[in-house]
Order: sequence, then C-alpha cells, then structure tokens
Amino acid sequence: MKLPEKGEAWPALEEALRDAKARDHSWRKGRMAVFFYYLDEELERIGQDAYRLFWTENHLGAGRAFPSLAKLEGEVVSMALDLMHAPEGAGGTMTSGGSESIFLAMLAAREKSGAVGGNVVMPDTAHLTFDRACWYLGLEVRRVPVGADRRGDVAAMAAACNEKTVAIVGSAPGYPFGTVDPIRELGALATERGLWLHVDACVGGFINPFLEGLPDWDFAVPGVSSISADIHKHGMAPKGASLLLVRDEALRRFHRFESRAWARGLYAAHTAQGTRPGGAVAAAWAVMRFLGRAGYRDCAERVMRARATIVAAVESIPGLEALPGNHAILVYRSADPALPIAAVADGLERRGWLVSRQVEPEGIHLHLNPLHAEVAEEYAAALREAAAEARRTGVARPKEEVRAY
Ligand SMILES: Cc1ncc(COP(=O)(O)O)c(C=O)c1O
Repeated sequence: MKLPEKGEAWPALEEALRDAKARDHSWRKGRMAVFFYYLDEELERIGQDAYRLFWTENHLGAGRAFPSLAKLEGEVVSMALDLMHAPEGAGGTMTSGGSESIFLAMLAAREKSGAVGGNVVMPDTAHLTFDRACWYLGLEVRRVPVGADRRGDVAAMAAACNEKTVAIVGSAPGYPFGTVDPIRELGALATERGLWLHVDACVGGFINPFLEGLPDWDFAVPGVSSISADIHKHGMAPKGASLLLVRDEALRRFHRFESRAWARGLYAAHTAQGTRPGGAVAAAWAVMRFLGRAGYRDCAERVMRARATIVAAVESIPGLEALPGNHAILVYRSADPALPIAAVADGLERRGWLVSRQVEPEGIHLHLNPLHAEVAEEYAAALREAAAEARRTGVARPKEEVRAY
C-alpha cells in the first residue's frame, strides 16, 4: 500500500477497519484465554472515555504543559503502593507494559550495584522478558530449575548467586504455571546478600490482594526492592499501563536518564519511552477508581469461579489432569497416551476456541479473566467433546512450533 495522494473518507476507512477486525479471533465471546482482559460494557466504555479525554496529551509534558498527568500518575502509583503494603517513602512509575517495568527494574538493579558484567538469578519459570531486558542491558541471565512444586528453589538460587549478581527475581505468579515463588524466603536471601529482589507481579498485582491462601508476595515482605504490576492485565485498564514500584522513592534515580548533551537543554525521563500516551494514564486512573477494592474483589471471584468450573471439567475426564495451582493461570495435561493433549487442543480449536499450548509438560494453558466466568460451562462442554473425539481418533495434526503467545 502507498500513502494515498488524497485523503479518504472516514466511513469507508471505518468500514475497512471493521472488516479487517472481523477476521480476528473473537475475544468478545471469551473463546480465548490469552491476550485480553474483559469485565463488561460499562468498564469498557469508562476505559475508552477516559482515554479519549486525554487522547493526545503527552506525559513527556507532564512537568510543564500537563500537570494533570503528573497528578493522575501520582495517584495511580499511590493507590497501587497502598494495595501492595508499601512502606512510607515508597515510589513508582507508570510504564507502557510489563516488559518496560521489568527492563527498568533490571536497569535500576544494575546501576545500583555498579557490577560490571553482572548477572540476574531467577527461577526458570520467570517470564522471558527478563532475558530480553538482560540482553538489552548486557547482563547474564541465570535461570535456576524450580522445585517439584514449580516454585523457585531458594537454596539453588542462593548457590547461583555470586559477587557479580545484581538482582534476584521471584514471580507472583509466573506465567508458565501460575505458581507464586517463595518471596519471603527470597526476601531473606536478598537481605542477607545485600541484593535487589524484584517481584514480577505483572499478572498478580491487581488480583493477588483478592485471592485466598497466597503466600506473602508484596512489600510487606522485608527485602523486596521492587514490584512490577500491570494495570493492563488484571488491573482491567486499556493496554499501555503498567507500574514499576520501588520500596524507596530514592531508588527511582537508578532508572532515570538525564542528559544535556545537545542543543535543547535538559532531557530527563524515568521511563524507556519519550512521548507517553496521556490516555493510558487517565484510563488506568479511571478504571482503578471506578472498580475500587470491591470491583477488583468481584473480578477475582469471577476468575476463580471460571477456574473451578474448568478444573472440575478437566478432572471429570479420565486421563486429563490439572496441574496444582490456585490462580488465574491454569494448565492441564493428559496423563494417558491414548488421549493426546495436542488432539484435544485441535478439537477445541475446531470448536472455535483459540488454544494456548504448553510445551513442557505438553498441555493446555489458560490465563483466565472475568469474562471467562460467563463461558466456562461452554468451554467445559467443548472440552468434553474434544476429549471424546481425541480418544476416538487419537491423532493430532503434525507438530508445528508452539508459540507462547
Ligand atoms: C508474569 C509476566 N511478567 C511479564 C509479562 C510481560 O508483560 P507485557 O506483555 O505487558 O510486556 C507478562 C506478560 O504476559 C507476564 O505474564
């Protein structure tokens, strides 16, 4: 396509966009458990309206032109710090997403430690975006096998640390299995060795506080230096909104860029972004205020209801088993060679579900959100049919490489 010489009329463009979208997988029906989060039309409208009110304001100008954005960001940060039991004097920054929050955390840990050629020690269930951040930053990644419970093995992590270690990482929860690492023990290790402990709560930040029976994971644990928490995941806000929270506001200087080495004077930012969408900040603020604790509690209940329905369906099918866990992320697999899980996944896809496949162990991965409570029975029925069909035919289509997303 070439840029048209003359602009085109909006109705035709809108139609073309709607037409393009019509070929996408329909998340509105809830038939996928990856990529999206949805509660209802009311929250959708609030997110969109708030975004639209600030659709072109630029957070880069928050200091001079748009003090509103500095205020809104400050309020988002303080609501999250309060939710995550941060002590007095803690601080934070809104970012574009979990990857940027994690990148900034690793940057800050590296800058604080001053170690040249440093390394970061993490359970091998940590999100691969840590490897990307370490690649950008020239840090070595030390992935340590998790224990049989698929949680970080603290003794093995301690053994993997050396004088070049700039940070250790725990996830609450990790993306592959939805397990929460032993953050309290990692906090003790970090304190003993004087290390930066980053807790990746990109998935968990806005749902953990409303789930029963989770191990401690937030700033209430001594030794936790920083937390990444995505408002655009279970925070239910439009995309482009995450947080990097730090135990002490003073730590933010370690991910602050500042220079005067050009003709335009001081350029300084705490984020990897320059221009930043004001809409993402305003929408996150509005969604958080609109939902409040009660709204998030309701979202968490819906997610866990969906999980219970799907786990019950999985466990009722001989041969299938759900991996242990109690979070929005659910993985199940087949323990029976006569029931290939890849064939079950194919059967679900034939029934209109977009399936997220797990590589190790081979299985099916679901990251549930509130909308799934409404379609969990439908999923259960499709699963029963797909499993019966897979047992009859026993063949899966030829293997192609599994994509995480
Ligand atoms: C645990 C965890 N950390 C980090 C990320 C990266 O977040 P983002 O995709 O917003 O960059 C994800 C994304 O799924 C995640 O699940």
